[in-house]
Amino acid sequence: LARGAAEPDLAGRHVVISAGGTREPLDPVRFLGNRSSGKQGYALARTAAARGARVTLIAANASLPDPAGVDVVPVGTAVELRAEVLRAAADADAVVMAAAVADFRPAAYAAGKIKKKDGQEPEPVTLVRNPDVLAEISADRARPGQVIVGFAAETDDVLANGRAKLKRKGCDLLVVNEVGEHRTFGSEENEAVVLGSDGSETPVARGPKEALADTVWDLVAGRLD
Ligand code: CTP
Ligand code: CA
Repeated sequence: LARGAAEPDLAGRHVVISAGGTREPLDPVRFLGNRSSGKQGYALARTAAARGARVTLIAANASLPDPAGVDVVPVGTAVELRAEVLRAAADADAVVMAAAVADFRPAAYAAGKIKKKDGQEPEPVTLVRNPDVLAEISADRARPGQVIVGFAAETDDVLANGRAKLKRKGCDLLVVNEVGEHRTFGSEENEAVVLGSDGSETPVARGPKEALADTVWDLVAGRLD
């Protein structure tokens, strides 16, 4: 089935996408981060806009051009991302959490740059848990029938871990991909299996991130009334 501008199946819908990776600051010049480039989330934003949706893109530290016609909301940390996702999700038909959200943040933020001292070992960094945005919005849906999609990058037992994670998070769909040093992160292509809470499994062959994005929107559109 041909899609895109010719078939605006998401017209009249508001979709929210989080993309990129959060950065959790230690001091004014340092942070704990991750390797997410934001490319998959931006591909989701472009394809949703092409299918007629109103798109809000919550962008965490992605150095990518703003997609045309998309409302881009920049964020830094997981706590900031949570606030903006909750705000945008209030009237959304679908929320896709493609961002790599840090599980932990430094317990303390040093207002001044942390300096090393002669002959002294460094202080250990104490971490605390960040909120789990996907679990929270799935458990407490802003609207009945809102479709919620998560992403999971796994290195081992990909499908078993994915099934368990889908259940734990309580979302409708989970896009599971296998990651490694040379897979997925920063790459132009992606390969995945989309697991549904209804037990469905949709494999997506290795290809451009737009192709995976379109499969996600097909599955979302099928779940919207
Ligand atoms: N996620 C989130 N908030 C967090 C962590 C993750 O919303 N604090 C979302 C991600 O955006 C993604 C999904 O949850 O859509 C799965 O992320 P993942 O890191 O795979 O899940 P975790 O539950 O953090 O499991 P793990 O211990 O394997 O990292
Ligand atoms: Ca995690």
